[in-house]
Amino acid sequence: MCGIVGYIGKPESPSDKARDVVLEGLARLEYRGYDSAGIAVAGSQPLAWLKREGRLDNLKAAIEAEPLPPASAAIGHTRWATHGAPSDTNSHPHISHDERVAVVHNGIIENHAALAAELAERGIERVSETDTEIAAHLLAIELEKGADLLDAMRTIAGKLEGSFALVALDSQHPERLVAARRNSPLVVGLGEGENYLGSDVAAFVGETKRALELGQDTIVEVTADSVNVIDFDGNPTQAKEFSVDWDLSAVAKGGYETFMDKEIHEQPMAVRETLRARTTEQGNLQLDELRIPESILRSIDKIIVVACGTAAYAGHVAKYAIEHWCRIPVEIELAHEFRYRDPVVNEKTLVVAISQSGETMDTLMAIRHAREQGSKVLAIVNTQGSTIARESDAVLYTHAGPEIAVASTKAFISQIAAAYLLGLYLAELRGNKYVDEIAGYLDELGKMPGRIEQVLEQEEQIRELARSMADIDSVIFLGRHVGYPVALEGALKLKELAYVHAEGFAAGELKHGPIALIEEDLPVFVIVPTPRRPLLHAKVISNLQEVRSRGAKLIVIAEEGDEDVLKYADPSQVFWAPRTTPTLMMPLVTVIPLQIFACEVAKAKGYDVDKPRNLAKSVTVE
Ligand code: F6R
Repeated sequence: MCGIVGYIGKPESPSDKARDVVLEGLARLEYRGYDSAGIAVAGSQPLAWLKREGRLDNLKAAIEAEPLPPASAAIGHTRWATHGAPSDTNSHPHISHDERVAVVHNGIIENHAALAAELAERGIERVSETDTEIAAHLLAIELEKGADLLDAMRTIAGKLEGSFALVALDSQHPERLVAARRNSPLVVGLGEGENYLGSDVAAFVGETKRALELGQDTIVEVTADSVNVIDFDGNPTQAKEFSVDWDLSAVAKGGYETFMDKEIHEQPMAVRETLRARTTEQGNLQLDELRIPESILRSIDKIIVVACGTAAYAGHVAKYAIEHWCRIPVEIELAHEFRYRDPVVNEKTLVVAISQSGETMDTLMAIRHAREQGSKVLAIVNTQGSTIARESDAVLYTHAGPEIAVASTKAFISQIAAAYLLGLYLAELRGNKYVDEIAGYLDELGKMPGRIEQVLEQEEQIRELARSMADIDSVIFLGRHVGYPVALEGALKLKELAYVHAEGFAAGELKHGPIALIEEDLPVFVIVPTPRRPLLHAKVISNLQEVRSRGAKLIVIAEEGDEDVLKYADPSQVFWAPRTTPTLMMPLVTVIPLQIFACEVAKAKGYDVDKPRNLAKSVTVE
């Protein structure tokens, strides 16, 4: 969702750098999803700002037509509309009634209506329909009373309800930026004689690799040479420094047509990196990050995975493996449902939160609830310095690198790999598996990058099929066992990228209702289990028969050499998973054709696969 960039340099040397750093940061944050963009700058000249609905290019064109003055401080924003339609006026930055203060904001100020009414009584009317504008006016009122921007921010932070990462620029003091955060993400980038703010590290990854995590309910004052962090009561607070391990090339397309293409191809690397350094030379598992005491991990009697969307499907896959290896019941719960249904969680429950961004508000709220009930929370997260990582008892990072395309691909794969490491670790710790058995599973996991590469070799055949099916308007995905969450993920990818109505079902469920949907030429994707699991396999082969006999168009993902599927599906519509891939590892390869298919259908329809309509990469509101 909304992206924030801030730059602060030396006030005595205003230049175009402030503007350029912010525009570059905004370009790198485009992936979060947005519908308008804006910038405000200050230095020796009065506050200047420009904002435009639509793509960042519209803003750049406006700056070209109406250049901004040299500045030492700048703040910028990509907006994903919540309060008020996308428009120039509703775009951020919002400017105070006296044109002294500019603010950008990510989150929702829930009591904006009451605060707007108070402002109206003072004769200050909102010009936009946004909640954010209130903050600009409130800050200006405090400054007018003689407060400095830090104090003003502290005062208004106490009045705001909801979630906010709020960055403010006082044009009379362009030597500093002040920001406040509650529930919405914000990180500080540390430079030499200049500093940065960003809604995530991608905002300044081109400038510095040193960053500071900001805790919940903190206010930060940043000048060119200093960073001062306090809590909402004004007490100094420590912010943890970390080193950003993403580089600029990771946030560029690297020769691919789209980020999504690049990220699909990065999947072998994502698994490799997630596994790397988590085994000893003797092949033993070593998860140093698991700072939860072993005695607690031994005593847990239930695992609940909380996550949303694709991350939840990764959790769903992990359920099969963790239950099988550890004999602990695993529930998978959509994070937004969890907190509101009075779940049974206690100190014997391990809550595993899975999130690429580490900022999904639904997941964040779920882990807070779990911790309040006494559960330990372990997060599987891709983004360093993110809120979910910070607020969990332990973090297992997926080292997939930045995922820029809005639709998740490499994060899904690496979430499964990380969850499997966790499962094996618990199995070893709790004595469910012998060390050599664990080593065997690890060895198979280690082979997965190579197996993913083998599936990627079928890319052109999958794309060709997708182009030939670009006019589809409804698709069904079927899978059984670990193939079921893969079917759900395949349907989600097609919905979100190609805007095609798609449903995923457990194949066994077909006869309980969905079979009524099957008709002549309806595309039905089926993920067929390995013939090495004859019972599972035979049941899904029966599903192929049932679907085929009703005239549907079958597209099959099966294990290489599975002759049975060729009785029902055209060979040009069968994609192969490498022979001998263990059943539990199958999702890491069977999902690949589904990702490529959805990507290519979307392209054939002329859609932007990196930024599907209405979606945001990081869903920071509940
Ligand atoms: C789908 C997709 C979303 C996310 C979901 C959770 O392609 O990307 O369904 O998986 O919004 O996001 P994170 O993993 O950032 O918590």
